[in-house]
Amino acid sequence: MERLTVHMSVNGTHFERAVEPRLLLSDFLRHELGLTGTHVGCEHGVCGACTVLFDGEPMRSCLLFAIQANDHAITTVEGLGDETHLHPLQSAFREAHGLQCGFCTPGFLMTLVPFLQENPNPSEDEIRMAISGNLCRCTGYQNIVDAVILAGKQ
Ligand code: FES
Ligand code: FES
Repeated sequence: MERLTVHMSVNGTHFERAVEPRLLLSDFLRHELGLTGTHVGCEHGVCGACTVLFDGEPMRSCLLFAIQANDHAITTVEGLGDETHLHPLQSAFREAHGLQCGFCTPGFLMTLVPFLQENPNPSEDEIRMAISGNLCRCTGYQNIVDAVILAGKQ
């Protein structure tokens, strides 16, 4: 199949790759760039695990082709922090036990980082609305809500 050249910034680094037109952005990030922090659950836009920032807006990378990100800026969970310098929201998730298996966590983080930038002190209802498109099989959501409230206070 014909390949197309795609250019994009991912976590501040410029990448150029020749890709098949049908390659999903989620697969591009995971398989071409090795950024496996972006998780793939349902692969049809339901679970939110694959959420990344697309020019600063949360989007489901399983619903985008890699070529749609041409000349755009993507941020994945690897761009938030690392083991020694966690993003404040990552620290709050750890402190409030906002994760168990962690499969859903990157998607929650990438949904909530821009949300908290716009709403630094959200109510519980606002938080639950913000995460209504992200599924978690483990936590029951309460500790995730607590983590967001904690992050808002920091
Ligand atoms: S893997 Fe993309 S929304 Fe579930
Ligand atoms: S922590 Fe396991 S799915 Fe959310």
